[in-house]
Amino acid sequence: MIDQVLSLLVLLSLLVACAEAPPPPAESPPAGLAALYATDFLVGAALGGRVIRDEDSLSRALVVREYSTITPENVMKWEKIQPTADTYNWGPADDYVAFGEEHDLFIVGHTLVWHSQLSDYVKQITDPGAMRTALRQHIGAVAGRYAGRIDGWDVVNEALNDDGTYRESEFYRVLGEEYLTLAFRYAAEAAPDAQLYYNDYNMWNGEKRDGAIRMIEKIRADGGRVDGIGMQGHYGISGPTIDTIEAAIEAYAAAGLPVMFTELDVTVLPNPWDLEGAEVSQNFENAPDMNPYPESLPDSVQTALAIRYADLFRLFHRHRDKIERVTFWGTTDASSWLNGWPIRGRTNYPLLFDRKYRPKPAYDSVAAVAATPR
Ligand code: XIL
Repeated sequence: MIDQVLSLLVLLSLLVACAEAPPPPAESPPAGLAALYATDFLVGAALGGRVIRDEDSLSRALVVREYSTITPENVMKWEKIQPTADTYNWGPADDYVAFGEEHDLFIVGHTLVWHSQLSDYVKQITDPGAMRTALRQHIGAVAGRYAGRIDGWDVVNEALNDDGTYRESEFYRVLGEEYLTLAFRYAAEAAPDAQLYYNDYNMWNGEKRDGAIRMIEKIRADGGRVDGIGMQGHYGISGPTIDTIEAAIEAYAAAGLPVMFTELDVTVLPNPWDLEGAEVSQNFENAPDMNPYPESLPDSVQTALAIRYADLFRLFHRHRDKIERVTFWGTTDASSWLNGWPIRGRTNYPLLFDRKYRPKPAYDSVAAVAATPR
């Protein structure tokens, strides 16, 4: 009898022990970059048309695993979303926003006012009143449609020349600098809860940087709300220097402007005429010496790219109190715009994932910077 009671007790304690035992260790998925930098800034990628149309499920899975924010590469640009004064093409933009909501991502809108990829009907406007109306209609319709759903807008893209003077865009030619304040005022009206940004390339350049700060101070004085600076970040392996980028981050922050790196990529290919920045209208002839790695990236360049990315992310991490977001311009090397610009038909390797969606050494170095104990 005692034996029976004892074995019952043993059995019972075993059962209790089993019930309390922790579950067997699950295969935890590797933490993506956004998780690694979660306490520092958002990390994300621009989505091309194929990703948005769900024709590239591997890129979609990659974005969901790695990132906390998205930007549309093309589908919200003026010529795509409002090709004529009274036609709108909402489908792809709606799909983009739905994808972001489904995965709880910080959704960026790109871009409301830009001289490039602009609809022809806007280019034909010469009357200031008609231009104000076109701006207000476009911004009201697009930013208004996604009010409360798009978290931040690149309101104005590339309004400056590299010397800090105003670019002679269609908008500037018809309205002068007034268009800048109008754009930010219309955006605030249509999407009062969205963050509103000024976005441009070569924002590390001292003259352009100071011009941007002057411009934004003027917009603010005239009643526009500007919430931050987008430094596009189309960089090369050796330039711009970390010091110049750092000086710009500090200057913008001192002017009350948090910084986003909005279109980060690092070209590894020769640069025709020492071209800097991302002037999309510039195109050059292809030639074999301009496309040195058509099959694969040599180890030495792969390593140089990884070191460059580590340097950049060490800088970003150091200034995480001033930086809100880092977005790569694309998901994998296969679909990067740098395969086609500034020379068509090249094979470039500017991102963290290769053509087979595999993380490159550059990925590991970015992840390692986040994981370094401090
Ligand atoms: C690029 C897209 O990636 C390309 O697909 C398109 O053909 C041209 O525009 N600066 C910007 C982005 O603000 O909108 C540009 O995107 C790259 C340069």
